[in-house]
Amino acid sequence: MTKVLAFTNNKGGTGKSTLCANSAHVTALTGAKVLVVDLTSQITCSSLFIGGAESLPEADTVLAFLKKPPERHIEDLIYESQKGLDIVAASVSMAKAVSQLASIQMGKESVLKYELERIKHQYDYIFIDSPGELNELTVNALVPSTKIFIPTRLNRTDFECTESMIRFIREAENYIGAREVRVVLNMLDDRYLPGNIWASSHTGMLYRQAQQTFADVLSPVTIPDSADIRTAFDRGLTVVEYKPGEEAARRVQELVNREVTSD
Ligand SMILES: Nc1ncnc2c1ncn2[C@@H]1O[C@H](COP(=O)(O)OP(=O)(O)OP(=O)(O)O)[C@@H](O)[C@H]1O
Ligand SMILES: [Mg+2]
Repeated sequence: MTKVLAFTNNKGGTGKSTLCANSAHVTALTGAKVLVVDLTSQITCSSLFIGGAESLPEADTVLAFLKKPPERHIEDLIYESQKGLDIVAASVSMAKAVSQLASIQMGKESVLKYELERIKHQYDYIFIDSPGELNELTVNALVPSTKIFIPTRLNRTDFECTESMIRFIREAENYIGAREVRVVLNMLDDRYLPGNIWASSHTGMLYRQAQQTFADVLSPVTIPDSADIRTAFDRGLTVVEYKPGEEAARRVQELVNREVTSD
């Protein structure tokens, strides 16, 4: 069965796009058939996986089907990336999609789900990147998902947003059914982890608090704050292409092994 993985948090800049793109690429490198669907106006995943994503006509992006009736269906919008996966690109004007979806009376939260039904059988994994706020696009990402990743940094604001995101998902589950949720601590220096030199600092205490607050949903894999991850993106690469074997690439690999491809 196809696994549909949504990356979400109603807080900007937590690493949704970075973890979505990097884990999708690592998964594709295992030989699995992978599709990435970009729902964000930052078009981070789109520009990483296809050249010239910023100048794609709107009619060649998700905007073409996030309306009723759809202008085009998803199968006509799939690009084959040279990195060995497929992608449906976003547009820099995704605000239009939000208003298009908001104007739909019935079924606006399931538009992406029904589009994915058309092509899902062709893929082992579908990764969906969603915006850093709660809107119609976020809901469209959550509805078709089988597993939801919530990347968060180790600070109070991110925590509060992560808690509110989990509450939102749990409430939505009354309508869409249960979803597996994983909170992934991103940009975390290992020295704050238990047993390391900064474990008793304020941030170290926040880690222990995260273990309690997110006990049942916290991934044991944390992603370090890594210049390799940033530089890779600036060079149009994922971290496994840029620095394979280095710590950041190994951690993304571990995240995929434990949370994506394990069952
Ligand atoms: N583990 C990491 N180490 C270093 N830099 C990181 C890491 N994760 C993300 N970043 C950097 O942090 C910034 C924000 O990351 P990203 O765009 O993935 O966040 P986002 O949650 O998708 O943001 P938005 O809500 O705006 O879509 C980017 O510059 C990215 O390169
Ligand atoms: Mg993003």
